[in-house]
Amino acid sequence: MALLETSRLAVRLLTEDDAPFMLALLNEPSFIQNIGDRGVRTIADARAYVALGPMASYDRFGFGLYLVELKAPAAPIGICGILKRDELPEPDIGFAFLPAYWSQGYALESATAVRDYARDGLRLPRLLAIASPANAGSIRLLERLGFQFTSLTRLTPEARDVKLYTCSL
Ligand SMILES: CC(C)(COP(=O)(O)OP(=O)(O)OC[C@H]1O[C@@H](n2cnc3c(N)ncnc32)[C@H](O)[C@@H]1OP(=O)(O)O)[C@@H](O)C(=O)NCCC(=O)NCCS
Repeated sequence: MALLETSRLAVRLLTEDDAPFMLALLNEPSFIQNIGDRGVRTIADARAYVALGPMASYDRFGFGLYLVELKAPAAPIGICGILKRDELPEPDIGFAFLPAYWSQGYALESATAVRDYARDGLRLPRLLAIASPANAGSIRLLERLGFQFTSLTRLTPEARDVKLYTCSL
């Protein structure tokens, strides 16, 4: 059952059965370059990633990264959702899509629904977001969603600078 629905998309909780899709998405060069290499190389790795990442987050926080599916033809196309990282003081929005589904407004459509759910369903006062300074597509999307640049920061002392954005809900 979908958690959220938009005209073209369904947003639902990830399960371990989504491992084949997650294996493909996490190994996309765009994912590795802009988000990071999660070291997920097999279906078993992907099942463990879903269980220990998004599913553990649903249990702990009541939210997490969700699967975004195209309704017609039915197909998983990306992930979008809300994370609570130890390194940030408040929840942040995250998204990643297979390149075949870029530039058609799907990221904006799903992230708008997730932002509204954070406000109306989860009653969060704010969402943060981080993006690498070179990730122009992600920054354009954040600005369209109403996020404002807040500061340059680092998630860990050794990490590279990322741009921190804030959206008041
Ligand atoms: C970041 C990312 C999600 C952005 O995806 P995207 O495809 O650019 O975003 P959208 O699907 O909303 O598409 C927006 C574009 O589609 C166009 N578009 C086409 N049809 C549209 C429609 N029906 N509705 C809205 N926009 C539409 C828009 O004009 C816009 O074009 P522009 O980017 O030239 O201004 C994607 O590049 C990605 O998955 N990257 C890898 C992972 C990543 O970097 N994640 C973010 C980490 S911070």
